[in-house]
Amino acid sequence: MEIKNVGVIGCGQMGGGIVQTAAQAGFDVKVSEVNEAFLSKGLNTIKSNLSRNVEKGRMTKEEMDAVLNRIHGTTNIADFSDRDLVVEAVIENMEMKKKLFAELDKICPAGAILATNTSCLSIIDMAMTTKRADKVLGIHFFNPVPVMKLVEVVKTIATSAETAAAGKQFGEKCGKKVVIAQDSPGFIVNRLMIPFILNAIQMMDSGIATKEDIDAGCNLGLNHPMGPLALADLIGLDTVYFIANAMYAELKDPQFVAPTLLGKMVTAGWLGRKTGKGFYDYK
Ligand code: CAA
Repeated sequence: MEIKNVGVIGCGQMGGGIVQTAAQAGFDVKVSEVNEAFLSKGLNTIKSNLSRNVEKGRMTKEEMDAVLNRIHGTTNIADFSDRDLVVEAVIENMEMKKKLFAELDKICPAGAILATNTSCLSIIDMAMTTKRADKVLGIHFFNPVPVMKLVEVVKTIATSAETAAAGKQFGEKCGKKVVIAQDSPGFIVNRLMIPFILNAIQMMDSGIATKEDIDAGCNLGLNHPMGPLALADLIGLDTVYFIANAMYAELKDPQFVAPTLLGKMVTAGWLGRKTGKGFYDYK
């Protein structure tokens, strides 16, 4: 099936990035938020990202206006009844996601594809709340979405080949390289990245090296754009902690056990860039 109309649930860091990327790729995009205040905050972030592209000469003002005209905000997901594809990007809470999928299944056209941007949760659990498990898959973007060039398309044991192909085509039309993974905790990238970040935290905590030197080591010794501790601050320490715990709960593999320090930082509200303090200060 050809996807023309897209719906995105959530206009936060990930949802907003998906909305911007899809609209820039030419898709008509509806985005929902829980209230008007969250919606206008998300839409304003998209506008300022696009304005920066205009200032940098990467886009004309007319092109920006055309992109903005393809984005429609709503606080009512019943408005998603005309969408070909809906991608949910709400917080990582399985009960919330299951409820959402059950609701979307009733609202969206019979042929519509329902996708989750989850980074680690079991997608078949979400799919089984619908009557269209063959049309449910993961479409996992990376933060910051407009910049990062990868999308993981995640197939459950029930996802049809046609749905996976449509998801891949959507990712590619968004200008991303698409990799395919099975519905296994953390898929490809988080399966590798989470133990890497947890090891870096443990290395710092046990005094093997300073945070600056651990990050410089990976930045300059591995050519990573940022070291693991700066990356954890970008992702959000609460998110890293959640993913690690969720992956440990499923896999029972000690490499996913979160260091005590990470839990304490989350408790203290040191969540990284979004709260102005994590491993580094951003105030
Ligand atoms: N939204 C849109 N654009 C953004 C942005 C954002 N949040 N953050 C940065 N950018 C753009 C900037 O506009 C900038 O473009 P300009 O040339 O117009 O200024 C460009 O990215 C580069 O940004 P900066 O110059 O500010 O800084 P930088 O060169 O250090 O790049 C970075 C910043 C893109 C974040 C880079 O450091 C990087 O790629 N870091 C690694 C990010 C990463 O690994 N992400 C994956 C996280 S894991 C994940 O998302 C999966 C999960 O499930 C948890």
